[in-house]
Order: sequence, then structure tokens, then C-alpha cells
Amino acid sequence: MADRILHRFNFAERIVHWVVGVTFVLLLATGLAFAYPALFWLTALLGGGPSARVLHPWVGVLFGIGMVFMIAIWIRDMFLSDTDWRWLGAVRHYATRDSANVPPAGKYNAGQKMFFWFQGLLAVVFVVSGVLLWFPASFGAGLLQWMRLAHYFATLGGGLLLIVHVYLGTIAYPGTARAMIDGTVTERWARHHHPGWHEEQTGG
Ligand code: HEM
Repeated sequence: MADRILHRFNFAERIVHWVVGVTFVLLLATGLAFAYPALFWLTALLGGGPSARVLHPWVGVLFGIGMVFMIAIWIRDMFLSDTDWRWLGAVRHYATRDSANVPPAGKYNAGQKMFFWFQGLLAVVFVVSGVLLWFPASFGAGLLQWMRLAHYFATLGGGLLLIVHVYLGTIAYPGTARAMIDGTVTERWARHHHPGWHEEQTGG
């Protein structure tokens, strides 16, 4: 029997996700370039050193706006249910692909929900510290030093989370990336990865 197609993300959700995704990658690359001379070549993504220095905070503004929309659109779906807490307790079975022992996930599994909350928190750290660092003349040297540290550690944390997120959404689980490209997934994918959501969508 042909595998039916289910609709997972609408156009607005995908646009918001990709504004956040593209701006985040640009910020990460240029931020690392400012911190590590060996990575300076990455400033080419924003037109070279001087223009990257000017554009980085403006791309940050776009990222911040994107995150506000992302949080507004998805927050209702991201609170952890009892099943999600059990899913977290069984995460080793998820990691070893022993799906018989993984509690059924809804539209998002608990790992995806945690990722949403961590990235939301990091976005606040990025934006607050970034704005202060953008206008250094208005703040004391001690505060700016803390902001530099916060911005730096948020970069490392956000970068590591992004690597895991991209890996899980592409290489680890084929059939997932299309959800963020044309908005659809196959019914088989949904039944396997998000049985609770599959049931809601198909009634069985
Ligand atoms: C740049 C490369 C990125 C790729 C290839 C990518 C890929 C994906 C894919 C395929 C999904 C759908 C997962 C599903 O249907 O279950 C997704 C969802 C999501 N993405 Fe991304 N993404 C990227 C960047 C980002 C960034 C930078 C953020 C936030 C800072 C982000 C936040 C989210 C969130 C919150 C979701 C919904 C929950 C989840 O699936 O984890 N993504 N992404």
C-alpha cells in the first residue's frame, strides 16, 4: 500500500524556522571568526571582516525577532507531559533505537521540547548580552566583561546543540528534513517517530 503523506509544518512555521536557522548559522560562523583568528575566513559569509563586524549585530536583531515568532508559534506544544517525562527516563532506549521501550511521543518528543527551551533561554542570553556589547560606551567595564563571557559560552552551547539538532534532523533520521522543506512527512515516518501525533492525525 502506498505510504500516505501527512502535513507537519505550515508555510509560516517553515519561514520562521529558516529565518532563525540561517541567521543563527551566520551569527555562529562570524562570532567564532571574531574569537578565533584561524577562523577569520568565515567572515567572508558577511562580506569580509569590516562588514561582518557591522552586520553581525543586525543579523542578531533578525535572529531575535525570528525567535520571538518561533516561541509564540510553538510554545503551547512544548510543555512536557507525563509521557514526556517517562520518555526522558527511557532516553537510553531512544539512543539505542530500541523503540519498543520508548514511551510514544506526540508531535514533538521530550528531547525536541528540551531543545526548544534551551535555545529559547540561550536566545535571551545572546540578545541581552549582545545589545550591551553593541553599545559599550553606555555600560561599565566589569558588566561588559560578564556579557562577553555569557555571549561566548552561549555560542559554544548553542553551537553544540545545533550540531546535534542538524544531525538528528538529517543523517540520523532520514525522512525528517522534508518536514522543514515542503512541510510534509510520510505516514510511516510519523508512526515510527511520533506515534501519538500519528494517531491524532489519522485516528489510528
Ligand atoms: C541550520 C540548520 C537547521 C536544520 C537543518 C534544522 C532542521 C530541522 C528539522 C528537519 C526540523 C523538524 C523536526 C521534526 O519534524 O520533528 C526542525 C525543527 C525545529 N528546529 Fe531546526 N534546523 C536547523 C536550525 C535550527 C536552529 C538554529 C534552531 C533554533 C535556534 C532550530 C530550532 C528548531 C525547533 C525548536 C524545532 C522544533 C522542535 C524540534 O524538532 O527540535 N532549528 N529543525
